[in-house]
This record gives sequence, C-alpha cells and structure tokens, in this order.
Amino acid sequence: MIDRQTVDRILDAANIVDVVSDFVTLKRAGANLKGLCPFHDDRTPSFMVSPSKNICKCFACGKGGTPVHFIMEHEQLSYPDALRYLAKKYHIEIKEREQTDEEKAEQSERESMFVVNEWANEWFQEQMNDTVDGRTIGLAYFRQRGFRDDLIKKFQLGYCPDKYDAQWQAGKAAGYNEDYLLKTGLCIRNEAGKTYDRFRNRVIFPIHTISGKVVGFGGRVLDSRTKGVQVKYQNSPESVIYSKKRELYGLFFAKQAIVKQDLCYLVEGYTDVMAMHQQGVENVVASSGTALTHEQIRLIHRFTENITVIYDGDAAGIKASQRGIDMLLAEGMTVRLLLLPDGDDPDSFARKHTATEYQEYLTDHQVDFIRFKTDLLLNEAQGDPIKLSRLVNNIVDSLAVIPDEITRTFYIKETSQMLSIEERIITSAVAKVRKRMRDERQKERDRERNANNTNEQNSQKETSATDSQDSTPLPPTDIPPEVFEQETHSPAELHLQPSRSHEDEKIIGIERQLIQVVVRHGEKVMCQIEDEEAGQERALKVAEYVSYALANDGLQLRNPLHRRILDEALQHYQEDGFRCDRYFENHPDMEIANLANELAHDPEALSKIHEKGIPVKPEEERLVELMPQLMIAYKLAIVRAQLRSLMQQMGDPEIQKDQHRADELMRQFMEQQTIQKELSHQCGDRVINL
Ligand code: CTP
Ligand code: MN
Repeated sequence: MIDRQTVDRILDAANIVDVVSDFVTLKRAGANLKGLCPFHDDRTPSFMVSPSKNICKCFACGKGGTPVHFIMEHEQLSYPDALRYLAKKYHIEIKEREQTDEEKAEQSERESMFVVNEWANEWFQEQMNDTVDGRTIGLAYFRQRGFRDDLIKKFQLGYCPDKYDAQWQAGKAAGYNEDYLLKTGLCIRNEAGKTYDRFRNRVIFPIHTISGKVVGFGGRVLDSRTKGVQVKYQNSPESVIYSKKRELYGLFFAKQAIVKQDLCYLVEGYTDVMAMHQQGVENVVASSGTALTHEQIRLIHRFTENITVIYDGDAAGIKASQRGIDMLLAEGMTVRLLLLPDGDDPDSFARKHTATEYQEYLTDHQVDFIRFKTDLLLNEAQGDPIKLSRLVNNIVDSLAVIPDEITRTFYIKETSQMLSIEERIITSAVAKVRKRMRDERQKERDRERNANNTNEQNSQKETSATDSQDSTPLPPTDIPPEVFEQETHSPAELHLQPSRSHEDEKIIGIERQLIQVVVRHGEKVMCQIEDEEAGQERALKVAEYVSYALANDGLQLRNPLHRRILDEALQHYQEDGFRCDRYFENHPDMEIANLANELAHDPEALSKIHEKGIPVKPEEERLVELMPQLMIAYKLAIVRAQLRSLMQQMGDPEIQKDQHRADELMRQFMEQQTIQKELSHQCGDRVINL
C-alpha cells in the first residue's frame, strides 16, 4: 500500500514528455509532441503528447492517458506497480508495509515472474562475484575474453554454479514459489520429477526489457571448444513475460545513445553488444541470432529512423538477412549496412583494434543498401546477363517497399547511376511491383472484410460501442490513419446505441455537466450552511451537495460511470489534500480516467458561459450560483421526461379502457406538473434546497 501523499507526490512529479520519451522519440508538433505509437503498428506518427495537459493519446488506436496509464499499458503493470515504477524514476521514496501472504498470492503471474527474475539476476551476480568458484570460473571467463570489469557490472553479467540444483534450492529457501521458478524457466523438472537448474555451469547474460526489467537470461557454456557437443547458448524459454522475437538485447543500455546519435547499430550477439560498448559505441542492439522481426524493428523505430546492420561477413547469413533489409525499408527506415572483414564478428574485431580505429571503421564502411546489394551481387554475377537481371530485380523489390515517395525516387536515381540503367526503366519496374503489392493488399483486405462481416453479424449483440476500437483492423500501409478514423468509429456506434428521446439526451447532457463539476471541483467548498444538529455553520462541499440534492428527490444518476465518480468523490472528499481532478484523471480504471480527462480539460466548461456584459468570474467562485441551477435543470429535465411518458401512456387506447389506471396516471401527471412549475420558479432564484 502506498499512502495518499506519496501517490500525489508521484503524480505531481511524473511528466508525460519525460515518461513517454523513455520509450518513444518525440518531435515537436505545434504545442504538442508526437511520435510513433508504441501500442500499435504505427508508420506515421499518430501518438500525440500534450505537455500542458500532461497526457498522451494515440489518434489511430486510441490508447494513452496520464503518465500512470501510459506505464500501465506499456509495461503491463497494475496501477500500484505503475506508481512504483514512476516513484523509482523520480527518486521518490515509497514507504510500504510488507505484503501479507495473501497479497503476495494475489500478485499476478506476470509480476511474480518478474520478481523471481529480479532475484535470480542478483543471485547470478552474487554467485560470480562473491564465491570462489564464481570468481575463478565465471569472472575469469569474461576477463579472459577481454571484457572490462565496469562493463561486466554494467551488463549485470553473472554465473550459475556447476551444481545440479543450487539455484532451485536457493530460490525455495528465499521463499519464492516453485511454480514461478519453473515458469520462468530458471529451473526445469524432468519426467522423473527431479528438478535442476537450466543454466548450471554457464555464464549469464540477463536480458532486459526496454525499461530495464529482466525478462530472461542467456547462458553461455564456458568452453569455447565444445562446438556441436553442447548448445553454446541456453536461453530462457518463451513465457508470458519473455518472447524472443519481441526483445532486443541491449536496447535498455542503448536507448539514450540511439536518440543522441540518431542511429542504431544492429548486431547478432550478446558479446557483440558488449564489445561495442567497450569501444565507446553504445547505440547498439542485438537480435540474438534470430532473423529480425517486425516487433524488433518497431522497437528501434521508436527511437530513430536510421539503422546500420553489421554483418560478420558470412555470405549465407547475408543472403538470409535480405528479408530483414526489406522489412526495415518497408518500415520507412533508412538502412545502411556494414560488412566486417572475413571471419570477424563485432566482438572479435573489437579486440584487434583501438576504440578510435573501431569507430572510424564503422563510419567509413557503412553503405546504403543499394551499394551493398550491388557490390555483393555484381561480384557474384560476373557479367552473366541472367544473373545481372536477377540482381536488378532484387534491388527493384527493395526499392518498391520504401513507403516514402521522395526517398524512393532518390534511391531509384542512385540505382540507375550505379548500374548504368536508364532511370525510367527502373521507375517503371518499381511501379509494377508496387501495383502488384497494392493488388495483393486489396485482396487481403477484402478477405478480412468478408471475415469481419460474418463475425460482426454473429457477435454484434454482445459487443458494446466502447470496445469496438480494439477489434477494428489497422489501416493498411501508406494510407494515413486519419482517413480511416470515421470509418472505424461511427458505424459501430450508430448500430449499437438505441435511439434516445430528446428528453433523455437532455438528462444525460446535464448529468454530464454535473459530474464535470464534481471532477473539477468536487472537494471544494461551495458555501457555508447551517448545520442543525451541531447548531453551527459548516462548509458544504460540491460533491456533498450533489449527493444530498439527488437523495432529497430520491434520484440516482443514470450513467453508471457518473455514479461511480460521485460515489468515489464522496468516499474521499474529506481527506487532507484530496483533489478530485487529480484523483479521477489518474484513476486506475481507464474508462473513468478517460472521461475525467475529457471533462477536466473541456474548453466548453462552465467557466466559458458568458453572461451579458458581466466579466466572467472563475468557475470556482460561481459554484454557489451554478450548482443549484444545474441541479434544478437536471430535475426539470427528468420531470419533463416523465410528463412526456405519462402523456404517451394516457393516450394509449388499452389504458384508457381501464378507468382506475387512467385516473392514477392523471394524478401522477398533475403532481409532476406541479413539481415542474415549482422547479421553473426556482430556476431563476439561487436557492439551495437540501
Ligand atoms: N544464439 C543463441 N543460441 C545459440 C547460438 C546463438 O541464442 N545456440 C544467439 C545468442 O544471442 C548469440 C547470437 O545468437 O549471442 C549470435 O550467435 P554467435 O555468433 O554464434 O555467438 P556470439 O555472440 O559470437 O557468441 P560468442 O562470441 O560467445 O561465441
Ligand atoms: Mn562472437
């Protein structure tokens, strides 16, 4: 449990630009900033950050909110854990009481697995640095490979002892749940029911998420001569927290340098990343030996558009990676490539050169993808016309996926010069490929649409208008999301909302205004009233007034979200330093938070209501006049709706036959009319009716 004051300190400190910038590079866009949305497959920056409102929002997928919401969504954390994350970021100390066993059990599986990994990460490091075996075997291995101690520490390298189940025993002794020791893959249970350590007798590279949490480990055998005998690297298995294709090794340590240099180097291995850091090149990440995935590209793209892929000169590997190059180009990245001399990977190359030599080599030898492909393939073609035309087509395929027209044209020009082929020939070849791609996409879309239509018909009754966003297909490439906005939102809403009468609309509208005042000013004093029981004056606060005024007439707010807001305001409004706006805008329930954000920043708020010739006082000072008026308007709208409904019933021939029923309706009608008159009179007055 985090106490209210600390929560407020965290909310005050958390700056949306700061928080989002840890995950996305933002560029100025007028009063706001924008970047690629981290929550969906975004190619044109749709993610807006408003420093003045301290919120963010994606205009394509709709995700966003306050700094806390952003962290909840991005890091998949619960509300309290998102607060803890921010507290850590802003060095705010949280005094928490120990969790009870019950609370521990309630922690989600994901969170528990992170906790276990955190412990394991410490344990591996202790085993390496604080035991004799660890130092003579593990640490010695890294040192002998040339890694400096500061790098070993920075990357939190560790060692798992050569014992059957040392970690299993240590984990259990430290009180960790056996389930999570197994689910994280740290320990393995065999068919005979025996449990042992996955990483025993290996040196350990922890794998961090973009925000620095440990999702998994890579463990390397200590002997370099065991090729083929043993798997060189053992990695954590796929789990609910770890997916190899979604992580990039080293990104956590590289983020800042990537932004600063506006460039990211991509290498293959753990040790390559470390070696480059040691040579002073920190903007580097590793795909960990697998083909580059779309998810990984998006992670890099959040920080820069420029990527340089470093190859260790093995021809088969280079060929296999061509798809990766095209994926990067299609993502709109500027791709450069660099070939290391035969037989060297970035790590071994590092050991043969000084930092300056290394950095110079990188700068001097990276070339754009066209030159790279041309050099590579020309050499292979040796003047053979069939091979040459294959080469041209290969390059044309890459050119065709580049989304930006100007960039594409620029590269076409370059290709034409390099291969001495007329520009228009390449242009038309590229156009052909693009048309083919478009046709394929169209087919794909048609298929999806058909599938969706059938689905929609089946499930329409169950879906609500609000969750329709999630299921809408993302807009296809190179068409900006704006184009799709209308199409994605309105039809669903039209379908799913039953038509409302004019009176109902009005009630909901006023109710929204009431709740808006509660969100903005719920805890503020509206006026002083006579407290009959105590026989003295006391302050009446806004939330309290709304609740009393409703209860007086036996009314309840219609919208369940509005009801929850009022209820929670009443629970807290008397707490010291409590502020409704801050509380609701940061509410763990996104629905409430979104509504509160809208209401709190609504430019059409009460303060903007102009009175003829009279300078408008700030909203706060007008609460005492505005609130009763709003309340009366609300009740009037309800009475009018009732009158209308009564009138309809009285006109029903079936009911007219039943004299008793008709009389009763008439009586109600008269009663409501009297109330209406009474309310209309009050409307102009400033009465506080309690
Ligand atoms: N890899 C893996 N499992 C393997 C082999 C490789 O996960 N059995 C991944 C590791 O992330 C490794 C990367 O692929 O870092 C590149 O593999 P490789 O080039 O073989 O290893 P190096 O990084 O060069 O490792 P070392 O220098 O320690 O031999
Ligand atoms: Mn290597």
